[in-house]
Amino acid sequence: MAVLLAIESSCDETAVAILRGETGRRAEVLASEISSQIELHREHGGVVPELASRNHSLRLRGLVEKALATAGAGMAEIDAFAATSGPGLASSLLIGSTAAKGMACALGKPFLGINHLEGHLLSPFLDQTMVPPHVGLIVSGGHTLLLDVGGPGRYRKLGGTRDDAAGEAYDKVGKLLGLPYPGGPEIEKAALSGNPGAYDFPRSMLHDPHLDFSFSGLKTAVLYTLQREQGKFSIADVSASFQQAVIEILVGKTLRAAQLTGRKRVAISGGVSLNKALRGAMREACERSGLELMSAPPDFCTDNAAMIAFAALLRHLAGESSPLSEDIHPNLPLVCAAC
Ligand code: KG4
Ligand code: ZN
Repeated sequence: MAVLLAIESSCDETAVAILRGETGRRAEVLASEISSQIELHREHGGVVPELASRNHSLRLRGLVEKALATAGAGMAEIDAFAATSGPGLASSLLIGSTAAKGMACALGKPFLGINHLEGHLLSPFLDQTMVPPHVGLIVSGGHTLLLDVGGPGRYRKLGGTRDDAAGEAYDKVGKLLGLPYPGGPEIEKAALSGNPGAYDFPRSMLHDPHLDFSFSGLKTAVLYTLQREQGKFSIADVSASFQQAVIEILVGKTLRAAQLTGRKRVAISGGVSLNKALRGAMREACERSGLELMSAPPDFCTDNAAMIAFAALLRHLAGESSPLSEDIHPNLPLVCAAC
């Protein structure tokens, strides 16, 4: 049995979680506190790194105290401290990582530096007793990644985006449409009353034999359409047609990945996996192909510290830890380039 405190500060959410777990048992989230900076960055139309790091350092102490109070735990009961060590914004990563190292050092407890992508990847299994073999799709603001997962720590990259991430495409198209940041939830809302067949946007690389993605052509196609229509377009129709293209690409590639690997399970994670239309389409496609679909609980899809604590717990229970000299890595890959 171990109790871990984890910090997530890779981008624009400051988050602290406390998780209790042991091998073969379902982990228990004792606290998951998140302070979102969305309002702070909204007026700039995207994340401003310096504002993000300053705000992380202002919020962190209060969030740690709140998480301990919610968990009903004292510092002395924490067995290990973890923080996201990459990928992400360097100045933001440094705040969480330095704070977790400081607490670990002061209390003489182990520290674990966790890959943010591993947090997302394993988040659909937070309420399970184990991480079984599966195909994992991470779809977030910074990443679109397909992985063959043999178990915790056993990840093989199958494909990734060659340009924009799926969430980034949502956010950029949202900006083109004049919707507030972040565009993902706004486009999902607008698409509810739109016609997904109104515009035939490109499904780039969908039928190519590889498992890579490309979303920048889709974003450009939306831009050209808006210019051509000279303000006479329906936001709902453009949103629904754009979303339909994204969903067909994500579902098509993920099912092909399951077919190629022979895995019988698919797990989706990351902010874009909150999208109900994507979840519905993925569920239907998986049912048709006899695949089990797993997804993270909604609270743990966008950036949070519970997913970082869970990835750290699995490593801690396996006897792993990180040296306090470990640096942050803004471009940290999830698997080595040769894998
Ligand atoms: O996982 P996340 O919080 O941060 C990263 O690690 O990037 O994902 C944020 C992304 C944003 O691009 C946001 O627009 C997108 O997830 N997102 C959505 C939805 N909710 C958040 N995209 C589509 N539909 C949604 N409902
Ligand atoms: Zn994320």
